[in-house]
Amino acid sequence: MKLLEPQRSSTLEPAQLETAIEHLYAHVPFCPTICPYCDFHVLERRGTLVSDYLREFKRDAAQLELLYPRNPLKTLYIGGGTPSFLRDAEMTALVSTIRQHFGWASEATLEVNPGTVSPSRVALWRDLGFTRASLGVQSTQDQVLKFLGRTHDAKQALSAIDALLEAGFEVSADLITAVPGQDLDRDLETIGRTGINHVSCYTLTIEAGTPFHRAGVTVREEDEALALERAEPALNGFGLERYEVSNHARKGFESRHNTAYWQNRFYYGLGAGAAGHYPIKSAITSPLDVIAQRRTNPHLHEWLLGQRGDLEPVTREDFVTDALFNGLRLKRGIDIASVSARAGLDAREHFAAAFQTCADKGWLEWDGDVVRATRAGMWVLNKVVMEFMAE
Ligand SMILES: C[S@@+](CC[C@H](N)C(=O)[O-])C[C@H]1O[C@@H](n2cnc3c(N)ncnc32)[C@H](O)[C@@H]1O
Ligand code: SF4
Repeated sequence: MKLLEPQRSSTLEPAQLETAIEHLYAHVPFCPTICPYCDFHVLERRGTLVSDYLREFKRDAAQLELLYPRNPLKTLYIGGGTPSFLRDAEMTALVSTIRQHFGWASEATLEVNPGTVSPSRVALWRDLGFTRASLGVQSTQDQVLKFLGRTHDAKQALSAIDALLEAGFEVSADLITAVPGQDLDRDLETIGRTGINHVSCYTLTIEAGTPFHRAGVTVREEDEALALERAEPALNGFGLERYEVSNHARKGFESRHNTAYWQNRFYYGLGAGAAGHYPIKSAITSPLDVIAQRRTNPHLHEWLLGQRGDLEPVTREDFVTDALFNGLRLKRGIDIASVSARAGLDAREHFAAAFQTCADKGWLEWDGDVVRATRAGMWVLNKVVMEFMAE
């Protein structure tokens, strides 16, 4: 019997292995209270936890700076949790650690809970160099906010938008959709009227282990479908275009930081629970197929003890599937020629069968070197990526 030659995929030599890290995410896990739907790494502040956190954050930053060559940052994002909950001296210390080890960026976003906004805090954030605020509005209806266990009301959320806009911030508002009892059209209308340039709409998800899960809260399929159908045209009416599964922006005001994630760029991940994506330190000592690394830090208590996540190898193939998983979220899709050059792997040839299956199912379409999810494909991205993992 004649043995079939294993099919070889062509491996390209990356023109030059990418080493620049131009983005930074820092995690601050503390919140005034924990919302019953939230599954992020969050906790309430107690005793000396915040000062312990800031001390360890300095060590984390110093270690990370030594591990990788330092490049000027293009974007940074301090998220959580609720970083805006930090007191003035704490926020100043956090920013000074980042500046000392990594410098600053022309797009610097702070995640803000409306309940933590005051005129003096807004002025401080501005003076510290933040340019953008991602505000957790969630809804503009008091009964919905109450149901979500939020500590602010609608009036506070709208005043927070005004105060941030007045201080010169770019403002993005988060809305949670498909909440039982929510009048979504009213929320979209009220948010659109504020004139902000960026809105994220997240369907309420009920995560195992959360109080909502334990209480048996459910999301109705028809509310979910309605949210997907209504958000885009309603926000279009205010000049905001959907540019990613959940994100809408006026042209030129897309989040550059999140776009870097979706384009599978490298970024530092600082703090407890934070994830980072890194180039390999040396092409000489690395196995041929490993071209990058990912690392997720452990949660607070281990992290405070000095533990860090392991560096997980990312092979050429992993790099391409990550690039697809992230990049297909973008409405404009991804340039497979550029991903192939970065990965050193001819992705179109290597995954030819999966691309074909997804095109046949009407999930993906090509425009020259750019592949993008169709409208139908956009809502089943998990299934799309499974086709590539299975290959
Ligand atoms: C990490 S939170 C940070 C925002 C800030 N802590 C706040 O809540 O005001 C980012 C966003 O994720 C969204 N989110 C969190 N949990 C969610 C869930 N279970 N379902 C849908 N959206 C969720 C919320 O819109 C929230 O504003
Ligand atoms: S939604 Fe925001 S404020 Fe609420 S627990 Fe999660 S991170 Fe904290």
